Amino acid sequence: MKKLYGIGVGPGDSEYITLKGYNLIRKADMVFIPSSGGKSFAGNIARDYIRDKQVLELDFAMDGNEKQKYAIIARFIDAKLKSGQIGVFLTLGDPMVYSTFCYLQKELVKLGIQVETVPGVTSFCAAANRAKVPVALKGESFYLCDGNIDEEVLKAVDSVCILKTYKNKASILDTLEKYGFEYVYVKRCTCDEEKVLFERDEILKDTDYISLILGRRKTE
Ligand SMILES: C[S@@+](CC[C@H](N)C(=O)[O-])C[C@H]1O[C@@H](n2cnc3c(N)ncnc32)[C@H](O)[C@@H]1O
Repeated sequence: MKKLYGIGVGPGDSEYITLKGYNLIRKADMVFIPSSGGKSFAGNIARDYIRDKQVLELDFAMDGNEKQKYAIIARFIDAKLKSGQIGVFLTLGDPMVYSTFCYLQKELVKLGIQVETVPGVTSFCAAANRAKVPVALKGESFYLCDGNIDEEVLKAVDSVCILKTYKNKASILDTLEKYGFEYVYVKRCTCDEEKVLFERDEILKDTDYISLILGRRKTE
Protein backbone atom coordinates (compact mmCIF):
# COMPACT_ATOMS: atom_id res chain seq x y z
CA MET A 1 0.00 0.00 0.00
CA LYS A 2 1.18 3.53 -0.84
CA LYS A 3 0.18 6.41 1.37
CA LEU A 4 0.10 10.11 0.64
CA TYR A 5 -0.65 12.85 3.15
CA GLY A 6 -1.90 16.20 1.86
CA ILE A 7 -0.42 18.63 4.35
CA GLY A 8 -1.64 22.17 4.85
CA VAL A 9 1.50 24.24 5.46
CA GLY A 10 -0.39 27.39 6.48
CA PRO A 11 -0.29 30.90 4.99
CA GLY A 12 3.43 31.70 4.84
CA ASP A 13 5.35 31.73 8.11
CA SER A 14 6.88 28.26 8.51
CA GLU A 15 6.12 28.34 12.24
CA TYR A 16 2.42 28.02 11.35
CA ILE A 17 2.94 24.47 10.10
CA THR A 18 1.26 22.16 12.61
CA LEU A 19 3.34 19.77 14.66
CA LYS A 20 1.49 16.88 13.01
CA GLY A 21 2.31 18.23 9.57
CA TYR A 22 5.95 18.79 10.53
CA ASN A 23 6.33 15.25 11.92
CA LEU A 24 4.85 13.71 8.78
CA ILE A 25 7.08 15.84 6.53
CA ARG A 26 10.14 14.67 8.47
CA LYS A 27 8.99 11.03 8.33
CA ALA A 28 8.12 11.04 4.61
CA ASP A 29 10.08 9.11 2.00
CA MET A 30 9.17 11.65 -0.65
CA VAL A 31 7.93 15.26 -0.67
CA PHE A 32 5.75 16.50 -3.55
CA ILE A 33 5.39 20.24 -4.02
CA PRO A 34 3.07 22.06 -6.44
CA SER A 35 4.90 24.57 -8.62
CA SER A 36 4.06 27.09 -11.26
CA GLY A 37 6.72 28.74 -13.42
CA GLY A 38 9.41 27.01 -11.34
CA LYS A 39 8.16 28.56 -8.10
CA SER A 40 6.45 26.83 -5.21
CA PHE A 41 5.00 28.94 -2.42
CA ALA A 42 4.11 25.85 -0.35
CA GLY A 43 7.58 24.38 -0.91
CA ASN A 44 9.17 27.66 0.12
CA ILE A 45 7.17 27.78 3.36
CA ALA A 46 8.52 24.34 4.34
CA ARG A 47 12.02 24.84 2.84
CA ASP A 48 13.89 24.43 6.16
CA TYR A 49 12.13 21.12 6.83
CA ILE A 50 12.66 19.48 3.42
CA ARG A 51 16.30 20.32 2.63
CA ASP A 52 17.52 16.74 3.16
CA LYS A 53 14.46 15.12 1.58
CA GLN A 54 13.76 13.81 -1.88
CA VAL A 55 11.63 16.66 -3.25
CA LEU A 56 9.67 16.36 -6.50
CA GLU A 57 8.06 19.39 -8.12
CA LEU A 58 4.68 18.97 -9.76
CA ASP A 59 3.96 21.48 -12.48
CA PHE A 60 0.35 22.56 -12.05
CA ALA A 61 0.69 25.21 -14.76
CA MET A 62 1.06 22.64 -17.52
CA ASP A 63 -1.26 22.70 -20.52
CA GLY A 64 -4.26 20.42 -20.86
CA ASN A 65 -7.68 20.43 -19.33
CA GLU A 66 -7.99 20.46 -15.55
CA LYS A 67 -9.23 16.89 -15.14
CA GLN A 68 -6.49 15.53 -17.40
CA LYS A 69 -3.88 17.51 -15.48
CA TYR A 70 -4.83 15.98 -12.11
CA ALA A 71 -4.95 12.48 -13.60
CA ILE A 72 -1.45 12.92 -15.10
CA ILE A 73 -0.03 14.26 -11.82
CA ALA A 74 -1.66 11.42 -9.86
CA ARG A 75 -0.10 8.85 -12.22
CA PHE A 76 3.29 10.53 -11.78
CA ILE A 77 3.00 10.31 -7.96
CA ASP A 78 1.91 6.68 -8.26
CA ALA A 79 4.96 5.89 -10.42
CA LYS A 80 7.38 7.53 -7.98
CA LEU A 81 6.05 6.16 -4.68
CA LYS A 82 6.98 2.55 -3.98
CA SER A 83 4.68 0.20 -2.10
CA GLY A 84 5.04 0.74 1.67
CA GLN A 85 6.37 4.28 1.22
CA ILE A 86 4.89 7.47 2.62
CA GLY A 87 4.66 10.63 0.55
CA VAL A 88 3.58 14.11 1.53
CA PHE A 89 2.06 16.72 -0.73
CA LEU A 90 2.45 20.28 0.56
CA THR A 91 -0.36 22.70 0.02
CA LEU A 92 -0.91 26.35 0.94
CA GLY A 93 -3.18 27.07 3.90
CA ASP A 94 -5.58 24.18 4.45
CA PRO A 95 -5.98 21.28 1.97
CA MET A 96 -9.78 21.48 2.07
CA VAL A 97 -10.10 25.20 1.31
CA TYR A 98 -9.92 26.15 -2.39
CA SER A 99 -7.02 23.77 -2.81
CA THR A 100 -5.90 21.82 -5.87
CA PHE A 101 -5.33 18.91 -3.53
CA CYS A 102 -9.11 18.35 -3.32
CA TYR A 103 -9.11 17.46 -7.04
CA LEU A 104 -5.84 15.57 -6.96
CA GLN A 105 -6.90 13.33 -4.11
CA LYS A 106 -9.84 11.95 -6.13
CA GLU A 107 -7.43 10.82 -8.86
CA LEU A 108 -4.99 9.36 -6.32
CA VAL A 109 -7.73 7.31 -4.67
CA LYS A 110 -8.75 5.93 -8.09
CA LEU A 111 -5.19 4.56 -8.40
CA GLY A 112 -5.46 2.80 -5.03
CA ILE A 113 -3.27 5.25 -3.10
CA GLN A 114 -4.36 5.77 0.49
CA VAL A 115 -4.86 9.49 1.10
CA GLU A 116 -5.19 11.46 4.32
CA THR A 117 -5.14 15.21 4.84
CA VAL A 118 -3.69 17.27 7.67
CA PRO A 119 -5.38 20.62 8.30
CA GLY A 120 -3.43 23.85 8.09
CA VAL A 121 -3.94 27.45 9.20
CA THR A 122 -6.12 29.04 6.53
CA SER A 123 -5.19 32.29 4.81
CA PHE A 124 -8.38 34.02 5.92
CA CYS A 125 -7.98 33.10 9.61
CA ALA A 126 -4.34 34.19 9.54
CA ALA A 127 -5.29 37.45 7.76
CA ALA A 128 -8.09 38.18 10.24
CA ASN A 129 -5.60 37.75 13.08
CA ARG A 130 -3.04 40.03 11.44
CA ALA A 131 -5.68 42.70 10.68
CA LYS A 132 -7.30 42.28 14.13
CA VAL A 133 -10.70 41.79 12.51
CA PRO A 134 -13.00 39.03 13.81
CA VAL A 135 -14.10 36.47 11.20
CA ALA A 136 -17.41 35.92 13.02
CA LEU A 137 -18.90 36.88 16.38
CA LYS A 138 -21.73 35.21 18.29
CA GLY A 139 -24.89 35.00 16.16
CA GLU A 140 -23.18 36.17 12.97
CA SER A 141 -22.77 34.38 9.67
CA PHE A 142 -19.69 34.34 7.48
CA TYR A 143 -19.35 33.96 3.70
CA LEU A 144 -16.16 32.67 2.05
CA CYS A 145 -15.82 32.99 -1.72
CA ASP A 146 -13.19 33.34 -4.42
CA GLY A 147 -13.03 35.96 -7.14
CA ASN A 148 -16.66 37.04 -7.28
CA ILE A 149 -19.22 37.93 -4.65
CA ASP A 150 -22.79 36.66 -4.94
CA GLU A 151 -24.74 39.77 -3.91
CA GLU A 152 -27.75 37.76 -2.68
CA VAL A 153 -25.52 35.85 -0.27
CA LEU A 154 -23.71 39.02 0.80
CA LYS A 155 -27.02 40.66 1.74
CA ALA A 156 -27.64 37.85 4.25
CA VAL A 157 -24.28 37.81 6.07
CA ASP A 158 -22.34 39.96 8.53
CA SER A 159 -18.83 39.03 7.49
CA VAL A 160 -17.16 37.96 4.24
CA CYS A 161 -13.77 36.94 2.90
CA ILE A 162 -12.93 37.02 -0.80
CA LEU A 163 -9.88 35.06 -1.93
CA LYS A 164 -8.14 35.49 -5.32
CA THR A 165 -9.08 39.16 -5.57
CA TYR A 166 -6.29 40.20 -7.93
CA LYS A 167 -8.44 40.21 -11.11
CA ASN A 168 -11.37 42.39 -10.09
CA LYS A 169 -10.58 44.26 -6.89
CA ALA A 170 -12.39 47.44 -7.95
CA SER A 171 -15.71 45.67 -8.50
CA ILE A 172 -15.32 43.72 -5.24
CA LEU A 173 -14.77 46.96 -3.31
CA ASP A 174 -17.73 48.60 -5.11
CA THR A 175 -19.99 45.72 -4.07
CA LEU A 176 -18.80 45.81 -0.45
CA GLU A 177 -19.36 49.58 -0.30
CA LYS A 178 -22.83 49.23 -1.91
CA TYR A 179 -23.97 46.84 0.84
CA GLY A 180 -22.43 48.78 3.74
CA PHE A 181 -19.36 46.68 4.46
CA GLU A 182 -16.04 48.03 5.70
CA TYR A 183 -13.04 46.16 4.40
CA VAL A 184 -9.37 45.39 4.75
CA TYR A 185 -6.97 43.97 2.16
CA VAL A 186 -4.30 41.59 3.41
CA LYS A 187 -1.37 40.62 1.21
CA ARG A 188 1.10 37.78 1.95
CA CYS A 189 0.03 37.61 5.56
CA THR A 190 2.59 36.19 8.01
CA CYS A 191 5.36 36.63 5.35
CA ASP A 192 8.09 39.31 5.30
CA GLU A 193 6.20 41.08 2.48
CA GLU A 194 2.93 41.26 4.46
CA LYS A 195 0.76 44.35 3.99
CA VAL A 196 -2.52 45.22 5.71
CA LEU A 197 -4.30 47.98 3.81
CA PHE A 198 -7.55 49.79 4.59
CA GLU A 199 -7.48 52.60 1.98
CA ARG A 200 -9.25 51.93 -1.34
CA ASP A 201 -6.58 53.67 -3.48
CA GLU A 202 -3.74 51.77 -1.87
CA ILE A 203 -5.60 48.46 -2.21
CA LEU A 204 -6.23 49.03 -5.92
CA LYS A 205 -2.54 49.70 -6.59
CA ASP A 206 -1.47 46.26 -5.36
CA THR A 207 -1.58 43.33 -7.79
CA ASP A 208 -0.33 40.39 -5.72
CA TYR A 209 -2.13 37.04 -6.26
CA ILE A 210 -1.40 36.08 -2.65
CA SER A 211 -3.93 38.47 -1.19
CA LEU A 212 -7.48 38.57 0.08
CA ILE A 213 -10.16 40.98 1.26
CA LEU A 214 -12.05 40.70 4.54
CA GLY A 215 -15.30 42.62 4.89
CA ARG A 216 -17.57 43.29 7.85
CA ARG A 217 -21.01 44.88 7.85
CA LYS A 218 -20.71 48.36 9.40
CA THR A 219 -22.45 48.76 12.72
CA GLU A 220 -23.84 52.10 14.01
C1 LIG B 1 -5.74 28.46 -4.16
S1 LIG B 1 -6.23 29.49 -2.85
C2 LIG B 1 -5.59 28.60 -1.49
C3 LIG B 1 -6.34 28.82 -0.19
C4 LIG B 1 -5.73 28.03 0.94
N1 LIG B 1 -5.92 26.61 0.75
C5 LIG B 1 -6.24 28.43 2.33
O1 LIG B 1 -6.53 27.55 3.15
O2 LIG B 1 -6.27 29.63 2.62
C6 LIG B 1 -5.10 30.80 -3.05
C7 LIG B 1 -5.62 32.09 -2.45
O3 LIG B 1 -5.48 32.02 -1.02
C8 LIG B 1 -5.23 33.31 -0.50
N2 LIG B 1 -3.98 33.29 0.27
C9 LIG B 1 -3.19 32.23 0.49
N3 LIG B 1 -2.15 32.55 1.29
C10 LIG B 1 -2.29 33.86 1.58
C11 LIG B 1 -1.54 34.79 2.37
N4 LIG B 1 -0.43 34.43 3.00
N5 LIG B 1 -1.99 36.07 2.46
C12 LIG B 1 -3.12 36.46 1.83
N6 LIG B 1 -3.87 35.62 1.07
C13 LIG B 1 -3.46 34.35 0.94
C14 LIG B 1 -5.18 34.27 -1.70
O4 LIG B 1 -6.47 34.82 -1.88
C15 LIG B 1 -4.84 33.34 -2.84
O5 LIG B 1 -5.27 33.88 -4.06
